[in-house]
Amino acid sequence: MATQLFEGKEHASYYQKFRFEPSQEVIDLIFSYVDKRLSDASLHKPYGLAVDVGCGTGQNTRILSPYFKKVLGIDISEAQIEEAKKATGSSNVTYSVCLAEEMLVGDASVNLLTASTAAHWFNIEKFLKEVDRVLKPGGCLAFFSYFANIEIHYKDRSEQMTEVFLDVKNIVAPYQSEKINNMKTAYKEIYEAIPYPDKRRIENIRTKIRMPLSSLMGLFLTFSAFQIYLKTEPEKAKEVLRTVEERFLRIMGTSSTETEVEVWLQNLLLLASKP
Ligand SMILES: C[S@@+](CC[C@H](N)C(=O)[O-])C[C@H]1O[C@@H](n2cnc3c(N)ncnc32)[C@H](O)[C@@H]1O
Repeated sequence: MATQLFEGKEHASYYQKFRFEPSQEVIDLIFSYVDKRLSDASLHKPYGLAVDVGCGTGQNTRILSPYFKKVLGIDISEAQIEEAKKATGSSNVTYSVCLAEEMLVGDASVNLLTASTAAHWFNIEKFLKEVDRVLKPGGCLAFFSYFANIEIHYKDRSEQMTEVFLDVKNIVAPYQSEKINNMKTAYKEIYEAIPYPDKRRIENIRTKIRMPLSSLMGLFLTFSAFQIYLKTEPEKAKEVLRTVEERFLRIMGTSSTETEVEVWLQNLLLLASKP
């Protein structure tokens, strides 16, 4: 079951440490859409309530805090919520363990509902009914994610670096949930299921994130498929990590895992507003 994939305490602490925040470009796109819809509905900043669904350790939840009076992050995983609560945050952000398909949130109470790298895990039919129940008229949803086709860039060796990354992806492919298919089809099915006429899908939002090689190695540990591999074949999984780090270092011609690489992501964003 999808939810159980994020239950481990260790997985949650890797998540807090190594998963990055949504890019500023994605946040700007969300608010240029949302500000217009909410002001048309006579709602003004700071808006009332935002809910971040499948919030994990709160990377996206915290970002919403300056725009809203209250922000609530919800997730089915207790371990993820525990980590989210430990992170420093603003006083207007709270977290709660609950299902995306049964939110503990009042009817017509939400101005913005986000799901960052999370909507593909939900039962979409039930979730969208729940979204419709909790959104105010004029309220917006923003579901976004990056695709699995990540590129690793380093000087003139980006092709070799990306090849190593792809090797890891192929090794863990047998442990990948079929829910990840939604990412492969760029959330097409999810977009089509959104019942509101005012909706849009924005693809090809490219972002680049600089990080030390050690953080890239940590990123592997946040992938649900890698966590299953670690549980199923712990020795092999650890050996893969060792070998992969060695290969990266050799290609980069350095012995320091603090040397920075650039991770290129391709994001997609679904936006819609309830009539
Ligand atoms: C890939 S993580 C994304 C976490 C975070 N939003 C981010 O941007 O990094 C997906 C999260 O969705 C949660 N999740 C999966 N199914 C869920 C459900 N049915 N209801 C609530 N949360 C769910 C998982 O526990 C996990 O924390």
